Amino acid sequence: MAEPNKPAILVARAVFPEVEERLRVHFVVETTPAGTVWSQEELVQRLQGKAGVLTTGGERIDAALLAACPQLRIAANLAVGHNNFDLAAMTAAGVLGTNAPDVLTETTADFGFALLMATARRVTESERYLRAGHWKQWSLDLFAGAEVHGTTLGILGMGRIGQAIARRGAHGFGMRVIYHNRSRLDEATEAGCRASYVSKAELLAQADHLVLVLPYTPEAHHSIGAAEIAQMKPTATLVNIARGGIVDDAALARALRERRIAAAGLDVFEGEPKVHPDLLAVPNVVLTPHIASATLPTRMAMAMLAADNLIAYLTQGRALTPLNPEVMA
Ligand code: DGY
Repeated sequence: MAEPNKPAILVARAVFPEVEERLRVHFVVETTPAGTVWSQEELVQRLQGKAGVLTTGGERIDAALLAACPQLRIAANLAVGHNNFDLAAMTAAGVLGTNAPDVLTETTADFGFALLMATARRVTESERYLRAGHWKQWSLDLFAGAEVHGTTLGILGMGRIGQAIARRGAHGFGMRVIYHNRSRLDEATEAGCRASYVSKAELLAQADHLVLVLPYTPEAHHSIGAAEIAQMKPTATLVNIARGGIVDDAALARALRERRIAAAGLDVFEGEPKVHPDLLAVPNVVLTPHIASATLPTRMAMAMLAADNLIAYLTQGRALTPLNPEVMA
């Protein structure tokens, strides 16, 4: 039945029932069946007459969509990354963008470390070997991997998640932590995660394990390509939990095949959910399907924060974590 006083919103990717329930108190909600990913055309069609949309990083909110959806007032991303938003176009159209920071920081850092460990210690490669029935005897160098404790941890992108990874490395694993970031952290923050600022060239040359946690922007595209990999130690490992496109996946696959670095762990990919076939063909890479923030409590918190942004903005004109707050003025 139509509810004329409630704004209409679209939940563009299936979320938890608890989140839908919370939204239904305030809105007429159109949901998306689990497993469905709308094409851009379908998304535009379903957004007709909607004041808000709950997106994941997979729905593109760009100038063309905004022009076709004049009633849209807010897009609430269920992710901290928001490279699916054209924020300039959203601001010009008077549409607020929000993201879901903080609630996923520690969980994502846990996973960054899990991927680092799995990569360095060859966890998935050795499991594949065992499951295939190849294990006939214990031997001294069987799947001998790279040391983690006491080595040098390099972090490219030192926001909240980068700092949480640094703390794990410094305090938990006795690592020397170096980082590179657009801007240097203040002294107290550096001291809290025992991290030292270095140039990108120094980071590449000195890291035993390099973790990428920078946001994706056009300037960050292929921040790690053949030239950067060539500056790394041949024994180094590389972990990407940031965004696909930050690494040149084809160049990385070539480097892994030629053992120019020891191994990589990737949770994000250029053009995901497709994965470059050359990556699938090399053994020394751990591949996971963009799950760094995937624990139930954290995914619930991310979804609830996105829902709360929709509710706060469409009922009171203020959002909790706005990306272009000038729209709220
Ligand atoms: C994020 O929050 O940006 C994660 O990558 C999930 O998309």
